Amino acid sequence: MDTDKGNKIVNVLLCIDLLILVITALTNEMIPKEIFESVHVIPGFLLVVLVLFHLRLNSKGLKKNNKSSDTYLSK
Ligand code: HEM
Repeated sequence: MDTDKGNKIVNVLLCIDLLILVITALTNEMIPKEIFESVHVIPGFLLVVLVLFHLRLNSKGLKKNNKSSDTYLSK
């Protein structure tokens, strides 16, 4: 899979996952404990995995001394 396409997919999933986490966190008192596991804790760990994929897909732009980019970590 090319990086651009991978990035788009991971970014959309990150956005949806974060939205689910925030909504389930804000409504946690209304959600039964056994359901909270699947609607918050699982998306929580999925977020960690997605962030790692995101960093990997963008590692080129994040590396130091990469003259072709002027991203925040390149200086
Ligand atoms: C936007 C980010 C997040 C917010 C605002 C948030 C908020 C919360 C809140 C308010 C609770 C307490 C629920 C309760 O005690 O009834 C909770 C529990 C929990 N969250 Fe998150 N969370 C976030 C991200 C994450 C992530 C990234 C993970 C995992 C890597 C995670 C894993 C958990 C776990 C394991 C619990 C405990 C569930 C239990 O009581 O058994 N959360 N979170």
